[in-house]
Amino acid sequence: MNAIQTNQLTRSFGNLKAVDRLTLSVPRGTVFGFLGPNGSGKTTTIRLLLGLLDPDDGQAQVLGYDTREQADEVRARCGALLEHHGLYERLSAAENLDYYGRIWHMSKVERGSRIRELLEPLGLYERREEPIGRWSRGMKQKLAVARTLMHHPELVFLDEPTAGLDPVASAVLREDLAMLAEQEGVTIFLTTHNLAEADKLCNQVAVINHGQLLALGSPADLRSRTSAPRLYVSGQGFTSQMIEGLRANALVNSVRQSNGQVVIDLTDLSRSHEVVTQLVAAGIQIDEVRKEKVDLEDVFLRLVEEERRGEE
Ligand SMILES: Nc1ncnc2c1ncn2[C@@H]1O[C@H](COP(=O)(O)OP(=O)(O)O)[C@@H](O)[C@H]1O
Ligand SMILES: [Mg+2]
Repeated sequence: MNAIQTNQLTRSFGNLKAVDRLTLSVPRGTVFGFLGPNGSGKTTTIRLLLGLLDPDDGQAQVLGYDTREQADEVRARCGALLEHHGLYERLSAAENLDYYGRIWHMSKVERGSRIRELLEPLGLYERREEPIGRWSRGMKQKLAVARTLMHHPELVFLDEPTAGLDPVASAVLREDLAMLAEQEGVTIFLTTHNLAEADKLCNQVAVINHGQLLALGSPADLRSRTSAPRLYVSGQGFTSQMIEGLRANALVNSVRQSNGQVVIDLTDLSRSHEVVTQLVAAGIQIDEVRKEKVDLEDVFLRLVEEERRGEE
């Protein structure tokens, strides 16, 4: 059974389709990244999946329960960190978690050991008695993540967990999230508009815009799908005859000169050495060869751009 299965899930606000015929499955045990620009429907999707909002059309099953008919079952088995961290600033870290554990009817002993189990790897156990009001945002956010895990949920929703953190605190939180995902073996559904974050943390990624699914796969799948294998070569001795010779190579899609470099689009980046060999054989003195590394950011921008063009 998938942790999440949606079928044509749709929700509008007035004329605006915030989530538009979304069909998606999230296997158990994955760290699933739900990527999209601001306003693309990420938070609305989470609210639909938690049964906090009803769909206009379509269905969703979370942990096998229908989100519309069995929202209580869903919520009992899920943790969620939504836009507000939901912590009490005047309580200590331990009190915050303890309070939450009581809501879930955990025994005192269970709460105590769970607090230690979660705070220790985050480096917060020694500070558990401090009121969190004066903690940094990064520390509070770690605690908020710990809170979502307190009652041993099977699935955790994290809505832009690193939003508003500085780059260092974001990186630390990402490390901790990766570590906790491993420790807890829990399925994580994480929204972000940060591509590097998805690349680092997620084994599956969905890209949405305007509530519609644009792409689904591993970060590597998405990269290879839209990658433009490209070489930038700088050196001495290029002639127009030489450039024509390159164009005749079956591995070469196109060649152009730009800023003193020769830019070569290839059909297969893994065979780029064959092209370099050809250049050397033709007497080019090569200073530098750089392969373009396509990152998820490029893929994402391209997908969004293609969608925009499709609308015109
Ligand atoms: N309660 C609401 N009422 C009206 N419009 C809403 C409401 N919630 C979200 N929207 C709109 O739906 C779209 C998607 O919002 P949201 O799911 O919050 O996007 P994201 O989380 O990707 O930034 C946005 O255009 C937003 O303004
Ligand atoms: Mg949002």
